Amino acid sequence: MNPAGSEEKVEDIEIRLLLEAMFVRYHYDFRHYSMASLKRRIKQARQQLGFASFSAMQERLLYEPSMLPKLLRYLTVQVSEMFRDPDYFRAIREKVVPHLRTYPSLKVWIAGCSEGEELYSFAIVFREEGLEDRTIFYATDINQEALQAAEAGIYGVDRIQLFTENHRKSGGKSSLSDYYQAAYGRVSFDRTLRQNVVFSDHSLVTDAAFGEMNLISCRNVMIYFDRTLQDHAVGLFSESLSRKGFLGLGSKESLRFSRHSDDFEEFDRDERIYQRRAA
Ligand SMILES: C[S@@+](CC[C@H](N)C(=O)[O-])C[C@H]1O[C@@H](n2cnc3c(N)ncnc32)[C@H](O)[C@@H]1O
Repeated sequence: MNPAGSEEKVEDIEIRLLLEAMFVRYHYDFRHYSMASLKRRIKQARQQLGFASFSAMQERLLYEPSMLPKLLRYLTVQVSEMFRDPDYFRAIREKVVPHLRTYPSLKVWIAGCSEGEELYSFAIVFREEGLEDRTIFYATDINQEALQAAEAGIYGVDRIQLFTENHRKSGGKSSLSDYYQAAYGRVSFDRTLRQNVVFSDHSLVTDAAFGEMNLISCRNVMIYFDRTLQDHAVGLFSESLSRKGFLGLGSKESLRFSRHSDDFEEFDRDERIYQRRAA
């Protein structure tokens, strides 16, 4: 028997049990996330939270609900930026918006919205394009701390240069500084940008579909899922979209291997924007 090999196996069992405990106790389901990167983050949590083993973490998680948000900080990745991948927002503005204009009311779902950077980017595009008043945005995530930050709309002033540059590259029609106020090293985005936003704790793994969306944007979320889970999420999007509704995944993800791919036609190949088929 290879002692190193058997040690690795026990560690895998412990991690599986930890994820199982998290699901059974709190209904947070990470069991089908992409294992290599999830394991890295769980190991980092164990080290930084000072646990001797994953089993010790599991025990604490079972008995102390306050462990859950601590662990979620490691298990979910909150890297984001406003107008991230500006070409995506240019495609939304120049190609998708003309279609959306033909509808009297719109529902837009930003799935996995993190701390709100993607949501505010959309809200600004919709304001600049005159669609804001007819739109309801749904901004969802499983991380409640991230959702609270999204609701607050406050970011470090050191991030603004990048956000401004991205906004400009995406075809922004105004100055980003029109939308925020700066004070004490932070910028606070205009509260009117979130007047038509519903923030909601929603999991693409365990929760149900939303109804009749005209546009769903879900970027840099499914990369953390395994193939089965990606398929499940795409099924949820298909169910949630209205006829001819749009699904934007961004350049890193695609529907290529999904069993739901026939529900969609390609709308913008580079930015991986799809349109729900009519039937
Ligand atoms: C890297 S951020 C992406 C943020 C933004 N969409 C972007 O592209 O910049 C990934 C987000 O997905 C969220 N997330 C992870 N698993 C999720 C799930 N099952 N359901 C909904 N959101 C999830 C995380 O909490 C995190 O906020």
